Amino acid sequence: MTLDWSAGPSHGLQGVLQVPGDKSISHRAIMLAALAEGESRIEGFLEGEDTRATARIFGQLGVRIDTPNPQTRIVHGVGLHGLKPNPEPLDCGNAGTGMRLLAGLLGAQAFDSLLVGDESLSKRPMARVIRLLERMGARIEARDGEFAPLRIRGGQRLHGQAIDTAVASAQVKSALIFAALYAEGETVITEPRPTRDYTEAMLKAAGWPIEYGPGRVAVRGGGRLSAQTFRIPGDPSSAAFPLVAALLVPGSDVTVTDVGVNPRRTGLFQALCLMGADLRFENERLQNGEPVADICARSSRLHGIDLPDALVPDMIDECPIFFIAAALAEGRTRATGLAELRVKESDRLGGMARGLRAMGAAVTESADAVEITGGPLQAADIDSLGDHRLAMSFAVAAQCAQGVTRIRDCANVATSFPGFIALAHAAGMRLDPA
Ligand code: S3P
Repeated sequence: MTLDWSAGPSHGLQGVLQVPGDKSISHRAIMLAALAEGESRIEGFLEGEDTRATARIFGQLGVRIDTPNPQTRIVHGVGLHGLKPNPEPLDCGNAGTGMRLLAGLLGAQAFDSLLVGDESLSKRPMARVIRLLERMGARIEARDGEFAPLRIRGGQRLHGQAIDTAVASAQVKSALIFAALYAEGETVITEPRPTRDYTEAMLKAAGWPIEYGPGRVAVRGGGRLSAQTFRIPGDPSSAAFPLVAALLVPGSDVTVTDVGVNPRRTGLFQALCLMGADLRFENERLQNGEPVADICARSSRLHGIDLPDALVPDMIDECPIFFIAAALAEGRTRATGLAELRVKESDRLGGMARGLRAMGAAVTESADAVEITGGPLQAADIDSLGDHRLAMSFAVAAQCAQGVTRIRDCANVATSFPGFIALAHAAGMRLDPA
């Protein structure tokens, strides 16, 4: 189904908003609860297509998951060795996190499985996990050795390894960690830049012996996972859209409550502060061991920056909305180290550069870098490439453009942010199905 939007302009955003639960944590909560012994409760679960696909797959693997009410799941864990084989394809939909983490977990099972995904996911690189899992003893066949569908051969003995991931990717690291739970001996993973550490933190909370710090994890196979109650905070990647809109549209004042602010996720907010944003964290607290805050944003005059390279992994999903802020800031913004953006749900560097140019921005891009000179934007006809974050980023840009912008192919916003249009309306954005 294709869905287009017509968007903007708006005259100011106001209000106290709440965004859906964190996508990364929701995937992992289902996985760890399924492998735990006993009943886990998940509150604040993201009712997005990506995370529901993961829950559906565990249902196919014999795990009972009840939904007493929306955003809540009761998972009847089957223990580390209790998953049941299923010869049907296991459909991860649009979700790279689902497919890569499951590749690690299923590579360690006694049975075969087949992981499939949608058109976008079937074009995304899987060799980065397959090759490393093979070093631990897993056997995974992929189309052209690289792409989904992934045919996973079970019944292999996995052994712990010292592995450097070479790419800064929490998905790759987490796939290896899931395999390591079943491996003989210790697996030590190092990464070129620290990435989000939810898998590590949630395993520790479930009683698994694991040592970790920025850029390094050591984990042994052969333990047990206890059932837990997960309280999932709002997704900072989703909060980014109304917050950046508030910074950019004059006369705005918005607060998003209960947002996860793990330091590995707050790169965008740091970058915006360097650009002069009036952005504050209030009511900072710990929830289930994770830092959570209410984030307040008021209209600001932003200026361009040279984005510090080290922030990129901590804002990897927020680069598209960061580029919108740069296009409306005064002066020039430069960012490098962006190669990973080419292999997300779409080529995000190319898609953003094209869309911004269509709106009148001056953008130059290279393989892994971009330079954007800020200025006024005009309405345009934009292709989101079926990428949820491109669609929402251009919906924000449109609030500040002259005229009504059409954004094409927006249905995938439901993968990560169900209710985005309703929240946008509540805040005062102009956004409707076209
Ligand atoms: C995620 C890690 C990131 C991110 C994705 C979610 C995760 O991907 O882009 O949306 O949950 O581990 P990479 O690890 O491939 O950078």
